[in-house]
Amino acid sequence: MFKIIIKENYDEVSDAAFEVMKEVLDSTENPVLGLATGSSPVGLYQRMIKDHEETGRSYKDILTFNLDEYVGLPRDHEQSYWTFMHENLFNHIDIPDENVHVPLGIGDDPEQNCVDYENELVKHEIAVQVLGIGSDGHIAFNEPGCPFDTPTHLMDLTEQTRRDNARFFENDIDQVPTRAITMGLASIMRAKRIILIATGKNKAEAVYGMLKGPKTTDCPASILQDHPDVTVCLDKDAASLL
Ligand code: GLP
Repeated sequence: MFKIIIKENYDEVSDAAFEVMKEVLDSTENPVLGLATGSSPVGLYQRMIKDHEETGRSYKDILTFNLDEYVGLPRDHEQSYWTFMHENLFNHIDIPDENVHVPLGIGDDPEQNCVDYENELVKHEIAVQVLGIGSDGHIAFNEPGCPFDTPTHLMDLTEQTRRDNARFFENDIDQVPTRAITMGLASIMRAKRIILIATGKNKAEAVYGMLKGPKTTDCPASILQDHPDVTVCLDKDAASLL
């Protein structure tokens, strides 16, 4: 079930997302958090950092699981999602590194990395999963056509996704990795609550597909129509086709 919140701008969207996160943090003892990368959740993370600094809320006993990672980027690469999460959140709160889980994009056996990640993930219930959405309707790195029942797996990235993400790689699509390791749609659907954040006109079609379109693997986010508790935080541009 979707609760749709439409706000004027990114700051207000981030405030709304933080309200849900705060509700979960306040009401659950040491919740397990599912986290996402991308520009969409950065405002939410800034509010979590501010709240940590101002209220002293501790993340010492909180576990986090991230959605995805590029295949082939070492953790210390400046565009790895490991680095992104440390720069945008983990380095600014008191979470110990051993509580942080991000899929491993390097090593001899990426398939095994997927199995290992999923095995760890199923031991926990994600209290809230943060999501963005790709302009092609992907969530995490589950691209169009990806079956709804997949666990953590490897994914070839679409040209559109690599083009969208080239801005982080000196606008050079050739530098964007071609594959990623990603939580599957089945892994994501197990989360108790979901916060999905989308802003900007280039997300409007994907948002429409997720909320109003048929449930189809052509728009992976449309699987969320089956989830009992999704708060969708949008700005007016992302909501413009609704
Ligand atoms: C990447 C990530 C997704 C994210 C999407 C949108 O492809 N794997 O998890 O939702 O980008 O990113 P942004 O929020 O920067 O628009």
